[in-house]
Amino acid sequence: VEVRREDYRPFPWAVPQVALDFALGLEETRVTALLDVRRNPAAEASPVLRLNGDGLTPLWVKVDGAETAGWVMDGPDLLLTLPGEAHSVEVATAIAPAANTQLMGLYASNGMLCTQCEAEGFRRITFFPDRPDVLSTYTVRMSGDAGAFPVLLANGNLVASGTGEGGTHWAQWHDPWPKPSYLFALVAGDLEARRDSFTTMSGRKVDLAIFVRRGTGDLERTGHAMESLIRSMKWDEEVFGREYDLDIFNIVAVSDFNMGAMENKGLNVFNTRYVLADPETATDGDYDAVEGVIAHEYFHNWSGNRVTCRDWFQLSLKEGFTVLRDQLFSADMGSEAVKRIEDVRVLRGVQFPEDSGPLAHPIRPDAYREISNFYTATVYNKGAEVIRMMRTMAGQERFRKGCDLYFARHDGEAATCEDFIRAMEEGAGLDLTQFRLWYAQAGTPRVTIRMAHEGDTVTLHLSQEVPATPGQPEKQPMPIPLKVALFDRQTGRHRGEELLVLDKAQDSFTFGGYSAPPVLSANRGFTAPVAIAQDVATSDLVFLAAHDDDPFARYEAMQELVVTHLKEAVSGSLSDVQRDEGRAAIAGALRAVLADDRLDDLMRGELLILPSHAYLSEQMLVADPGAIHAERQALRAGLARALEGEFVALHERASAVPYSLSAEARGARKVKTQALIYLAEGNPARAEQMAAAQYRAADNMTDRQGALMVLAGLQGPERTHALLDYYTRYRGNALVVDKWFSLQAGSLHPQVLAHVKALASHPDFTLTNPNRVRALYMAMAVNPAAFHDPSGEGYRMVADLILQLDPLNPQTAARFVAPLGRWRRIEPARAALMRAELERIAAAPSLSRDTHEQVARSLG
Ligand code: ARG
Ligand code: ZN
Repeated sequence: VEVRREDYRPFPWAVPQVALDFALGLEETRVTALLDVRRNPAAEASPVLRLNGDGLTPLWVKVDGAETAGWVMDGPDLLLTLPGEAHSVEVATAIAPAANTQLMGLYASNGMLCTQCEAEGFRRITFFPDRPDVLSTYTVRMSGDAGAFPVLLANGNLVASGTGEGGTHWAQWHDPWPKPSYLFALVAGDLEARRDSFTTMSGRKVDLAIFVRRGTGDLERTGHAMESLIRSMKWDEEVFGREYDLDIFNIVAVSDFNMGAMENKGLNVFNTRYVLADPETATDGDYDAVEGVIAHEYFHNWSGNRVTCRDWFQLSLKEGFTVLRDQLFSADMGSEAVKRIEDVRVLRGVQFPEDSGPLAHPIRPDAYREISNFYTATVYNKGAEVIRMMRTMAGQERFRKGCDLYFARHDGEAATCEDFIRAMEEGAGLDLTQFRLWYAQAGTPRVTIRMAHEGDTVTLHLSQEVPATPGQPEKQPMPIPLKVALFDRQTGRHRGEELLVLDKAQDSFTFGGYSAPPVLSANRGFTAPVAIAQDVATSDLVFLAAHDDDPFARYEAMQELVVTHLKEAVSGSLSDVQRDEGRAAIAGALRAVLADDRLDDLMRGELLILPSHAYLSEQMLVADPGAIHAERQALRAGLARALEGEFVALHERASAVPYSLSAEARGARKVKTQALIYLAEGNPARAEQMAAAQYRAADNMTDRQGALMVLAGLQGPERTHALLDYYTRYRGNALVVDKWFSLQAGSLHPQVLAHVKALASHPDFTLTNPNRVRALYMAMAVNPAAFHDPSGEGYRMVADLILQLDPLNPQTAARFVAPLGRWRRIEPARAALMRAELERIAAAPSLSRDTHEQVARSLG
């Protein structure tokens, strides 16, 4: 069944209080839920109380203290008829955590018990109105074997604990803040914690703890997460005026987890990969990811928990806003420019393809079958861009006023995107009437820019087109804020940035006082999540790549230079001479980047990264993955040969910088591996020696992994040595073994598919751990040379995985459909193979709702 946004109705019953009692066991846990229910005066009255369930049967049901047989199942849900205004309803269920391979609801992970309830997991624990607009205060009592579960955690504050019979103990927790069921959490296990504290701006002392499994050595790896948490708490006070509101803030790291992490009130549950970090096992990228996700979940305490969502169509209300908040935080903690470039790279590499494919949806979707399928780059990352545009148009101060009004007005409520927009209109003084289209229309707008120069006047002719997407054939023009600057060719300077808002299908903007045609720098800072189409001379791109004072625009010019060249190369429209000229222009720009001592290495590293295969494919209506890959690699080889000496020198210089987490040292590590990546194409034998040396000398995971990544794609003997050494060194450390799988599945080695097939039967491979499944199969599915192997073998392996995984873990299985779903944008021979695999999946005798929905939309 399809759920539609327009069908929203308030729930007829309120549930102000809930008392849960858990008798914990890995094989069986008994749950008794006591609900205090009363009629919701704001809803249309109904005597029927629908309690959602998923795979549950009631052991018994009591109404007002007396057992009743007056209930009926409606599919998975339990229905009761209640005559009066207010009742108590008590339901007992028994669940089997160890058999819960979906990892939704209460499940077991390495002997510990933990929960994941967003979006609809609570209904796998007990019968309940499992929707975000039903807010309750929770009291949770749990008891269990004191040996197996020495630590018992739930949301809020610990109010009592004690010992029971037969070696059991119990704890009772109370969360004073009303919350929807998706924010419920419980953890029980043999855990140890790193502890610290934070005093909030109004003087509340908060006890902080990060829990990991006892005796794993993981505790030593929680320092960075704790520092990140403390920095997040401080930053949210300073920048958004948001203060924490409980005396305890707990985080638990869990190895088996479908997503990144979960913002349960006062008890965040995390995938271990976003908690654990030390120099020996985590790369610089891992450090950043830990900091970003810790911040993200913490920030949800306001944008998500204090103000939650009315229904799941409003998901971007909390996710888009919270992603923006974590992006701004990370920018403040490190390099703003580099962070912006990274965020745009994710948007273009993941969200743009989503927006142009069969799974395209607006940031506020209109319908879904399985809400888990809508935890997407569109809802999260484009959602963040949409709010960022409001911030750009309002300016920081007025944006803050809008946020303040939103939090003040909706604190304690389940709100909508419309509520947020209204608060922004009133608080920030914006008119967002037309801007609302950004919530409703899917598809990446395409803005065409043409510059005309006459006399001393420059005119920018702008037009926009929002492409048709599934279910949305016609689109209206949207307000698109574009920061632009006009550079004087002689001085290399501009006269100030302008913010243009293009809100019509076509518009023109004029600028006086230019006796010569300037160079246009458009969408500076990437103020709008759009694709820009513009006829720019190569010389102008080279100029901007060297002179633009906006670091994002400088990066953009560099990317455009490469994209334009590769597009032409792939289309076969370049003569040999033109191809050489194009490469020479790019090599010249890269040489300048390598030589420019105003650049720090973190930024230099960004400028060295070639546009991704995914982003390049996105530029073509129908892509030939083989040709794109070949041209991209050929360009890299050409650049590496032209600049071999420079890359070797860069590697040597960077290798001399000792390990630390300073920006300088991180930058050095970044360019060091970039240099190897180039050299691996230009001079593989030399690269092999250099990478092997880097591997052996490495005193940190960034260098080690960078070297191994390069070696994994080469065919010399060093590859085998390094892969075996790495495995022996780190076997037993799940997160590092994940990297070992990923590096091989993501490598440029010609036999990569054979390697993946063999790795699937490696003793360390398992379908029951989502990190491991992604490490092997997602790495392959996003490895263009492997996935798009002309034999169709890559497609077949992904489809086989989906079919095997779907019965165990539908949520994770469904994530693998999207790569196959791109078939319409791929050349016909491969498209037919991809489509055939989707049809094979569709024909399976039984599919989860998750996978079925994605496959149906992909074939659609
Ligand atoms: N709210 C979490 C976060 O973004 C994600 C939870 C997603 N869970 C799911 N089952 N899809 O921080
Ligand atoms: Zn989130």
